[in-house]
Amino acid sequence: MCVYALLLSSLCLATIVQAQQCSTPIGGPNMNLKDEYIIKNTFEDGAVVYFKCNVGYQPAGGSGKITCTAGLWSPVLLECEKKSCGAPTEVEFGQYGDTTAEFGDTVKYECKKGYNLVGNSVLRCEDQGWAGREPTCEVIRCVTPDGVVNGTFTPLEEIYEYNSVVKYDCNKDVVRNGSSELVCSEDGKFHPDPPTCVWVECRDPVITHAVYERGSRPPHRYKASVTYSCEKGYNLQGSSTITCTIDSQWSPALPSCISKSSIGNPSICL
Ligand SMILES: *[C@@H]1O[C@H](CO)[C@@H](O)[C@H](O)[C@H]1NC(C)=O
Ligand SMILES: *[C@@H]1O[C@H](CO)[C@@H](O)[C@H](O)[C@H]1NC(C)=O
Repeated sequence: MCVYALLLSSLCLATIVQAQQCSTPIGGPNMNLKDEYIIKNTFEDGAVVYFKCNVGYQPAGGSGKITCTAGLWSPVLLECEKKSCGAPTEVEFGQYGDTTAEFGDTVKYECKKGYNLVGNSVLRCEDQGWAGREPTCEVIRCVTPDGVVNGTFTPLEEIYEYNSVVKYDCNKDVVRNGSSELVCSEDGKFHPDPPTCVWVECRDPVITHAVYERGSRPPHRYKASVTYSCEKGYNLQGSSTITCTIDSQWSPALPSCISKSSIGNPSICL
């Protein structure tokens, strides 16, 4: 009827054109009209517009093209799915946490024990893939540990890697006080502290009324031990055997010889 009227009436034509216009179309999830169509509010009969997937999404089938026909848009067949960045790049001596590796996801790298992370620990999956550069894991290093007077350590290097061990030895006649092994640790230092090499010599004991039984003769060096008894008429009080410690002291303390006649005599005991 209108086609017929079209020939007769320009008024009718205006009405028809009005009726056949389409308003702004609505797309499916995660898509938008291409930029050039966004500014328009109405579309002529026969107008064609295109939808495109949003940033971070990609077409998963269907066309983004729709047509305005008699005031109605043809259906939007385009489907948009989230982009995937794929598995993040592996880092030597490192690992990364769980990620679905989709647009907007992040992945966090960590280095194995003994390695320092250099660079960014977190990467984000963006429209063009993983953004940024994955970090590297660098082995922790220690500098040469302190030397020791009257001793040496091996091996001698400029740089030691994490978990390296240096061994200390003391020269002949001096005694190591402390650990023989130091380990290059996570803080980039050797632990524990280096030992010292100490000269150990205990003074020859002077114990009145004591009798040397057996053991070390001067010089009394580290771990030397001497056993004493007492002269007749005296009782030994304390330990009969004493040993020279690393502090150059006898341990336990020197014994003493107490006159038997004094036993039971309170005036001497006090
Ligand atoms: C080093 O050893 C010598 C004996 O070899 C000793 O006379 C000297 O006191 C020692 N020095 C130290 C600091 O222990
Ligand atoms: C041995 O080492 C310990 C701990 O460092 C220290 O306290 C002690 O005085 C040292 N002894 C000697 C004899 O150097």
